[in-house]
Amino acid sequence: MSLRKTLAVLATLIATGTAIPTPSQTETSSSFPHLNELAQAKGKLWFGSSIDTTSDSVKDDTYISIFNQSAIFGQTTPGNTMKWDYTEPQNGVFDFTLGDETIALAKQTGKKVRCHHLVWTKETLLGAMKTHITKEITHYGSNCYSRDVVNEAINYDGSYTDNITYAFQYAREAVQALNADIKLFYNDYQISQPGTKVTSVLNNIITNVQSAGDYIDGIGMESHHSDTFYPTVKELNTVMSEYAKLGLGIHITELDVACESTPCSTSGQTGQAQAFYNVIHACMETAKCTGMTFWDFNDKYNWIQPSTNDGAGDATVLWENCTAKPALTAVEEVLRGESCSVC
Ligand code: G3I
Repeated sequence: MSLRKTLAVLATLIATGTAIPTPSQTETSSSFPHLNELAQAKGKLWFGSSIDTTSDSVKDDTYISIFNQSAIFGQTTPGNTMKWDYTEPQNGVFDFTLGDETIALAKQTGKKVRCHHLVWTKETLLGAMKTHITKEITHYGSNCYSRDVVNEAINYDGSYTDNITYAFQYAREAVQALNADIKLFYNDYQISQPGTKVTSVLNNIITNVQSAGDYIDGIGMESHHSDTFYPTVKELNTVMSEYAKLGLGIHITELDVACESTPCSTSGQTGQAQAFYNVIHACMETAKCTGMTFWDFNDKYNWIQPSTNDGAGDATVLWENCTAKPALTAVEEVLRGESCSVC
């Protein structure tokens, strides 16, 4: 960065009251709190972070030296490399190369893997269906006087099995054929507070899948929050107890907290710290909640970039130069069972 640009950035940080990271605060693998060890000491399976090996993060020495430490992260989720567009780039053509790389990286660094994900209902299934429908209608055009759109959706006994249930059934069958023990999760966002979406997930997805067979093991609460809008511990406890009542395991799968404007102000950083604290606090208090995962741990590689999100960003526990935010202190404190000194 040029001197002029550096000074401009510093001026913005000062004007917005943002704490200026100093080199001495830079987190390395030796100073970064041992989040995984702390979580495991309290009976959890892991504390982890996603990694997107298609990004430059893997070439970032400081970042990788933190990621590689199993005392810090005992689990990972591929941010992108196991998605349909990577594993089946063309219909029927499979390519597991990048996903295999993530598995290898996890194995080398002693991490469990949450594989993510098989079907992205909204984008993948609906996208594929939309393309198919549009292409075929366009191709045959007015040669068709009428056309059947959906065929035989209801079973002979009047019951209805939706595509999500089929996805779980096929997944369970494939797992059983391997004689493996792979936990099958439904993963979604905005299911951390009681409301319409939680009710719909419970009534339209979980209950449907459960009544069709023993196909589902748990629910993934993505947990993408912001510095001004995040769940209270009470709200989290309420929804987690609903999930637990249905026998579901719970994972916090994609925890990040975006600051609505960037650079994140001092008060933004306080809200962010509180949001991280709340989510982890609720998981630590809930026996069925067994693991927590950051959706990356450095602002540079997180999906919420100010340029594409109306100025929102800075959503992780480390600034781009790997210096720690109050949120990292909050995470360490909650894992230690302490109150939050930075919230
Ligand atoms: O790799 C290409 C690169 O070659 C190309 O130049 C560039 C130009 O746009 O795109 C790159 O691919 C991007 C990819 O991330 C890797 O960075 C895609 O455009 C972009 O759409 C993709 O975004 C990912 C998004 O899911 C969509 O798959 C984010 O990184 C990823 O963090 C995000 O993760 C999702 C979870 O899977 C599900 N829950 C929500 C979460 C956030 O949206």
